[in-house]
Amino acid sequence: MTTSPNPESDPARKILTLAQAQAWHAQLRAAGKSLAVTNGAFDLLHRGHATYLWQAAQQADALLVAINSDASVQASKGPDRPLVNENDRAYLVASLACVSAVVIFNDPKPVDVFKAIPPEVYVKGGDYTEDSLDREEHAILRQAGARFVFIPLVDGCSTTATVRRIREARPDQTRSDRPAAASATGLNPRLDFIFRRRSVRRYQLRPVAEAMVTDLLQAAMAAPSARACDPWHFVILADDALRADLAAKLPNGPFLADAPTAIVVCGDLQKANAQSESFLLVDCAAAIENILLAATALGLGACWLGIHPRPERTAMLRQALNLPESIIPVAIITLGWPAEDHEPRTRAKAARIHRNTF
Ligand SMILES: Cc1cc2nc3c(=O)[nH]c(=O)nc-3n(C[C@H](O)[C@H](O)[C@H](O)COP(=O)(O)O)c2cc1C
Repeated sequence: MTTSPNPESDPARKILTLAQAQAWHAQLRAAGKSLAVTNGAFDLLHRGHATYLWQAAQQADALLVAINSDASVQASKGPDRPLVNENDRAYLVASLACVSAVVIFNDPKPVDVFKAIPPEVYVKGGDYTEDSLDREEHAILRQAGARFVFIPLVDGCSTTATVRRIREARPDQTRSDRPAAASATGLNPRLDFIFRRRSVRRYQLRPVAEAMVTDLLQAAMAAPSARACDPWHFVILADDALRADLAAKLPNGPFLADAPTAIVVCGDLQKANAQSESFLLVDCAAAIENILLAATALGLGACWLGIHPRPERTAMLRQALNLPESIIPVAIITLGWPAEDHEPRTRAKAARIHRNTF
């Protein structure tokens, strides 16, 4: 005997417009029930998402999940994401028994959702704190009287890591022929991460995970260096007060104070090829560029703040960071999730290219 499907249990019924979700919330309230809200991209749904959402659901009588639209994911994570379109992401999240309802939001932040549906509880991943939440979102939720709950993330579950594993396992496509269709800019789309690298000077409040900083430093130390002398050293400016203090002393980088992290790239004159400052500088510059390109590839924004050769800036950093005599600070790289967009571009000029002779 076959049983006919129960339309009531169709996950699609849980995907609501904002107006429908508002009406549903009003009914919940009328029944004296509480609502927890969380938000995210939920791109490539994994065990960590499922655990997180189940824990979020334990915080109230019902759980509403606000899902970033495709445009919204692209704005925050770069043009390679999302991997799964918004309707499919919403359907998968709605398929979880612990999820009561789903809405898709189009703006970079879900402020319209919070305004329309002020929840009793707001749930966010443990990589955030109340201090690092977006200020506008925090203010709206605070005003609504929401309780904030931060749920530790499950170790080893990350879409970015999964994507990386899949990409590493697949044959090297960079050696194949150039694709017939170039990007809209006429630049080779395979070099996108180079053309998209622009100086980013405004950042979201969202922190940069330690693991990403580690990735950036591995990229830095993959740079070429003269006779592989690797003269570089890196000082991570993890402390908010330290970054604010240095920003106040640097005429060229007030935004260092607002960046969630930064790296000082230094070189050791004793270690540089021929103990030459010129070799030290070119080696460190290669490492700096690797960090900037790696940051772009990971969806982060970064800016090179010039330190060397200005004596007042190198002296200030030497003192502030307790740098030994032979260590020369070359640059500070500010880092964070971008809060400004720049067009991909090159500044290539035919007049700068010479063939065989100048
Ligand atoms: C050696 C060097 C020093 C720089 N110093 C600063 C700086 O102190 N402050 C800043 O805002 N940008 C700084 N920049 C970033 C440049 O202004 C930026 O790269 C340039 O305007 C080109 O723009 P783009 O990076 O968006 O392509 C520096 C870049 C280099 C290579």
